Amino acid sequence: MNRIDGLLSRMTLAEKLGQLTMTASSYAVTGPVIAGDSTQSIIDGTIGNLLNMVGPGPTHEMQRLAVERSRLGIPLLIGLDIIHGHRTLFPIPLAEAGIFDEAVWERTAREAAREGAADGLALTFAPMLDVSRDLRWGRTAEGPGEDPWLNVRIARAKVRGFQGADLAAADALAACAKHFVAYGPVAGGREYAAVDISERTLREVHLPGFAAAVEAGVATLMPSFTDLNGVPMTAHVPLLRDWLRGAHGFDGVIISDYHAIAELINHGVAADLVDAAVLALKAGVDIDMMADAYRHGLPVALEQGRVSMDEIDACVRRVLRLKEQLGLFDDPYRRGAQAEAPAVIAERHAYARDVARKAIVLLRNELRNESRNESRNALRNERETLPLPSSVKTLCVLGPLADAASEMKGPWWGAGEHEPHVSVLAGLRAALPDVDLRHAPGVAIDDADDGGIAAAAALCDGADAVILCLGERATMSGEAASRAHPGLPGRQQALAEAVIARAHAQGTPVTVILFSGRPLVIPWLADRADALIAAWFLGVEAGHAIADVLTGQVSPSGRTTMSWPRALGQVPIHYAQRPSGRPMNPADYYTSKYQDVANDPLYPFGHGLTYGRFRYADLRVEPRNVRRDDVIDVSVELRNDGTREAEETVFLFVRDKVAQVTRPLLELKGYAKLKLAPGQAGRARIELPAAELAYLGPDLEPVFEAGEVEILVGPSAERAGLLAETIALLE
Ligand code: BGC
Repeated sequence: MNRIDGLLSRMTLAEKLGQLTMTASSYAVTGPVIAGDSTQSIIDGTIGNLLNMVGPGPTHEMQRLAVERSRLGIPLLIGLDIIHGHRTLFPIPLAEAGIFDEAVWERTAREAAREGAADGLALTFAPMLDVSRDLRWGRTAEGPGEDPWLNVRIARAKVRGFQGADLAAADALAACAKHFVAYGPVAGGREYAAVDISERTLREVHLPGFAAAVEAGVATLMPSFTDLNGVPMTAHVPLLRDWLRGAHGFDGVIISDYHAIAELINHGVAADLVDAAVLALKAGVDIDMMADAYRHGLPVALEQGRVSMDEIDACVRRVLRLKEQLGLFDDPYRRGAQAEAPAVIAERHAYARDVARKAIVLLRNELRNESRNESRNALRNERETLPLPSSVKTLCVLGPLADAASEMKGPWWGAGEHEPHVSVLAGLRAALPDVDLRHAPGVAIDDADDGGIAAAAALCDGADAVILCLGERATMSGEAASRAHPGLPGRQQALAEAVIARAHAQGTPVTVILFSGRPLVIPWLADRADALIAAWFLGVEAGHAIADVLTGQVSPSGRTTMSWPRALGQVPIHYAQRPSGRPMNPADYYTSKYQDVANDPLYPFGHGLTYGRFRYADLRVEPRNVRRDDVIDVSVELRNDGTREAEETVFLFVRDKVAQVTRPLLELKGYAKLKLAPGQAGRARIELPAAELAYLGPDLEPVFEAGEVEILVGPSAERAGLLAETIALLE
């Protein structure tokens, strides 16, 4: 008899339900906490899994209770959220997505897994794969942004990164694809609200990332808190049991979200905890996180004949198998056995700085006259606002986020909470020791006091440049952080107006650095700032990375993976809209438009400037007549006409011109990166497997259909900036 069958044959019902229960320590709690003595329950075998505990000391201590003092000695599975780094915090996922580099996506997860495992963990509740097109929702920060194709690539890289080649390795963590599925389109962008989307949108936009995670071998998966078209995901039989376990063969562990099984009562589909436990078990949820519904509800349900022991055993078997795959039976202390060497940690910090630099998005960089006195010879003296010229002697570093080290952590800091973070001011001090740095916050991030504005603005007098650091507090995005007014909080707009007016009166350029976990609605700022940077939340090395970009040590190369709206009324706004029967035409009243704002975003998906100036030419697409098994070779010539080396991200979109169902105006299908020195030219190449041009037909089955498809290549999803060629698909 193998280990798992052997254990199952000896387990009492209470011990079985213990394996299906996960309880929090008090480390980081996002919902109600179960009272009681978990320590005794571990010894009794009635709690088999823990979350929110870190450090080899505490995790091994708990593990010892389970392994050495419980009757059957089954090791605990201990998990924690590692959303953007464990102790060494990296940029938030929304920022990291815009790096468009699979090696980076994978490595940050690998580094986080090493750190997490060194802290005694074997499981993390990541990656978060919720496509998000509504910036009111705060969990935009945790995910990939608006695009499903990109989400698929991130899903694969993250699963590889967390789990490594061997789940049993001392530095591997079981990953958890979450939140299954379509959590992003919560009504009104309001956290935990209901979701109502079409079956087509579900299949085209929200399911592919999870299918990719399953194909990549993800060990666990978490249903979302939300209800989808009337069925809460924690009890969603068609999607959990039929789609995931059935059609996609997922045989890993499904872990409920925090307290979510009990919340089936609030959803109004369960009358009590017994009902709730039955619904979740029938849907295929293996582990009950923090609801205590399985321990209390399943014994009753079993007695009533509403669930069978076989159904319970199937869940226990999956949990025990995961523990076995993680090597926990062989050596439960393997993770956390050895502290990481200081050199390894130092190297990781250096890497975090590199990643943070790559995640910075330069939204705007205006040309301006170099000399303060408007020269008649303006053209010859023109330069972009950034990088800062080496002639800068006095620099104003203003705003409530200028010296806000702890905000740099972003919304899900996990075990990095007490690590020192580098503020913008500290980063600039280190980078520019000879420059006179003047600093004032002006206002707090989010209160009504504007008493400090005048003094902050006055610091601009005589300065060579102004860096104004604005945006959200880290906790204004992330879980439970929806915003109905996602612009500048508090009195920051007043600060920006005063500072920009004062600086511009003297011809002093103002660079605005925005911190946020979502695109912000900032049309005024985008119009007035001379340079505008989306710094999101960049993690432990934020200030150094920002200084590297401001001073021109590196060229920015990050792209936004969510569209930035001009007005909140445009939300949800994303590039892959379907066509209208009455496309926008300013000359025709009865067309698809707003009366008071343009249709297009302020900054489109993929937008992000560099310090180079790239010209695109000579798009080549081969072959022109394409069969399903062909791989289409797409290439474009790029020339850097700027004065600095820079790396450009080139996007490949497609447009299926005539299909049986309406197709998006643009669909991302690839990207390439090319670094070019000033004056240098090169070719960016992207391979497009023709099979990716199949789409879901009227019956939602994939079809590969003869007809014309446009291939469009360029620097962002802005249609006017794309080169296009048409190919013919042959059946
Ligand atoms: C969040 C999950 C998270 C869990 C455990 C919940 O509130 O929705 O994303 O994994 O807490 O911390």
